[in-house]
Amino acid sequence: MTVALCPGSFDPPTNGHVDIVERSAVVFDRVVVAVVANPSKEPLFTADERVRLLAASLTHLGNVEVAAFEGLLVDFAESRGVDVIVKGLRAVSDFDYELQMAQMNRTLRGVETLFMPTNPEWSYLSSSLVREVARLGGRIDELVPPPVAEALKERLK
Ligand code: PNS
Repeated sequence: MTVALCPGSFDPPTNGHVDIVERSAVVFDRVVVAVVANPSKEPLFTADERVRLLAASLTHLGNVEVAAFEGLLVDFAESRGVDVIVKGLRAVSDFDYELQMAQMNRTLRGVETLFMPTNPEWSYLSSSLVREVARLGGRIDELVPPPVAEALKERLK
């Protein structure tokens, strides 16, 4: 059985994140979505909230679980018996940092990372842009899953 790990800040989860998890769930037997508890910037949603929002957005997938983690991603990956980390790539601009992280994680623990090209429908989408648009009163309903749209409106009203 192959287990994939889809890690991220997910502040908030977007349709782009959901697309990567959905496609990973087709390629691999099981997918663990790993929410970093303490991202570099103060998050809009707590780790528990981000886990709940993701879980509510992924109920249609039977082989996916969502969990928060603290510390090194490779430690969490090892504790969950993960075979491969999957990261979405939106554009060349994502590549430098993602390559660095992939090589660091492989150096630390030998874990491989596979890059999945983002669906072009969502290639312009990022959590930070969604936060900004929502904050300024723009429409985000087509950019994030319904539970996330609802939570954003509630948080920013
Ligand atoms: O949503 P993001 O910002 O692309 O997610 C980045 C994330 C959470 C995957 C990365 O910051 C991470 O793995 N953090 C955990 C700490 C860690 O392992 N750092 C070393 C990475 S090489």
